[in-house]
Amino acid sequence: MTSETIALASDHGGVELKTIIRAELEKKGYEVLDLGTDGSASVDYPDFALAIAQALKEGRARRGVLFCGTGIGIAIAANRHAHVRAALVHDAFGARMARQHNDANVLVLGGRTIGLEVARDCVEIFLDTEFEGGRHARRVAKLAEYGER
Ligand code: RB5
Repeated sequence: MTSETIALASDHGGVELKTIIRAELEKKGYEVLDLGTDGSASVDYPDFALAIAQALKEGRARRGVLFCGTGIGIAIAANRHAHVRAALVHDAFGARMARQHNDANVLVLGGRTIGLEVARDCVEIFLDTEFEGGRHARRVAKLAEYGER
């Protein structure tokens, strides 16, 4: 069991998958900070990427999961915030690499593109895998450095 808080946010294209993942995280003992959206009404994914970026910046959560239809728009939006390393992932290998090599702090899933079992695996691996550091730390540091130029 863990008391870590995981932030979640989605647009309408990802809300169904977010609801399922939310319930599973809560079952595993995580605190969930659900930043919306809450229904099927059409909304704008940059607003929900901003919500998660702010939650991470303010220390309300250390890690998060974002969802939109493809995952593409909300990943682009999230990565505009310099402290966010959001990885759009489609399989378990990607989820593992996103943590081991990229120290991703946000996992991004496409609600209309990924199967439920694969999505479950991605979330579990993302949350359970440590950053390897070493040569990857140098590269991740450059992401922050170059983001400020
Ligand atoms: C919304 O219809 C859709 O464009 C959005 O969920 C996402 O796929 C954008 O990248």
